[in-house]
Amino acid sequence: MKTMKKIVCILSTLMLVLCTLGCSKKAEQPVEPRLLLGFSQIGSESAWRIGNTRDIEACAEEYGVSLMFENANQKQENQIDAIRRFIAYKVDVIAFSPIVEEGWDNVLNEAKEAGIPVILVDRDVSTDAEGLTKCLIGADFYKEGVMAAEYLIRKADSLGLEHVNIVEITGTENSTPMRQRQAGFVDTIAGDDRMVILESIDGDFLKSRGAECMRSLLGTYGSDIDVVFSHNDEMTLGALPEIEKAGFVPGQDMIIISIDGGQEAIDVLKEGRINCVVECTPKLGKELMETALKLKAGEEVDTLIHPVEEVFSDEQDTSLIAPRGY
Ligand code: AHR
Repeated sequence: MKTMKKIVCILSTLMLVLCTLGCSKKAEQPVEPRLLLGFSQIGSESAWRIGNTRDIEACAEEYGVSLMFENANQKQENQIDAIRRFIAYKVDVIAFSPIVEEGWDNVLNEAKEAGIPVILVDRDVSTDAEGLTKCLIGADFYKEGVMAAEYLIRKADSLGLEHVNIVEITGTENSTPMRQRQAGFVDTIAGDDRMVILESIDGDFLKSRGAECMRSLLGTYGSDIDVVFSHNDEMTLGALPEIEKAGFVPGQDMIIISIDGGQEAIDVLKEGRINCVVECTPKLGKELMETALKLKAGEEVDTLIHPVEEVFSDEQDTSLIAPRGY
C-alpha cells in the first residue's frame, strides 16, 4: 500500500512538471497578430499629437494589433508615400490623420483598388468621390468652436463688456480643425453685436508660430485686443510670454481661450493666465482598434465617431480637474 502511494505521488509530480514545461513553451511562442494596421501620423507638432501617438501605440498592443507606424513630419507628400508603402505591404487596414483636407483622391483610389479599407483618424478629407474611406474617428471640431464662443459670450456678460475685440490664431490652413473651429466660433458670435474679429492669423498649430503671430498682433493692435482665441494649446503657450513681454496680464487684461486641454495648458489655466480651455481628446486609439478589427472581420462600422468633450474654465473650481495624461 505504501509503495502504491509513493508511485501515485511520483506520477503526479511528473505530470505537474510536464504541464508547467508545456505551458511555458506555449507562452514563449509569438502570438499571431490579429491584424496588420498601417497608420500615418501627421507629425509631433503638439503635446496633443504626441499623446495621440502614444495612445494609438498602447491600444495596438492591448488589442494584439501589429502596427506599421509612420510619422510624416508635417508633410502631406510623406503621408501619401506612407499610404503607398502600406498598400505595397498589403496591410489589412490603413488609417491616417490627413494634415489638410484636399489632395488625397489618387492615393485613396489606389487603396480602394487594392481592396484595403481606410479609416480617417482625427481629421477629415474633402472629396467628391464616393466610398474612398470607411469612417472618421475624431473630435467634433465645429462644436469645439461653438463651446469656445459660448464661453466668451458668458464671460463678456459677466464682465459687462460692451465691445469685444478678438484676435484669432488659427491652426494649419485648410486642415479640418482649423476650418471647423473657426466656423463654429464665427457662427456662434455672429448674433452678438459686441463681438468683432480684428484679425485671424495662421499659427500652424506650432508654439513658435503662436509666439510670432502674437508679436505681430500686438504690434498692430496693442491694447485694443480684448480676447485671444487660439486654436490649440501649443500656440497659446507660445503667445502668453509675448503678451507678458508687451506689459499685459493674460487672463486679466486679455481673455485667453485655448483648445486641447493638455496638462501644461490646464496648469496655466489653474494659475489664471488662461481663462478657458475647450477639450479635444487625443485618446482615439481604442475606437481605432475596435473599428479596424470590425473592418477586417467584414462587419459594418459607424461612419462617424465623435468622442465626448468638455470645457475647462475659470467658471469652475479648477483644482478639481483630474490629471490629463497628455
Ligand atoms: O487635429 C487636432 C489638432 O492637431 C490639435 O488641436 C492640435 O494640438 C494638433 O496638432
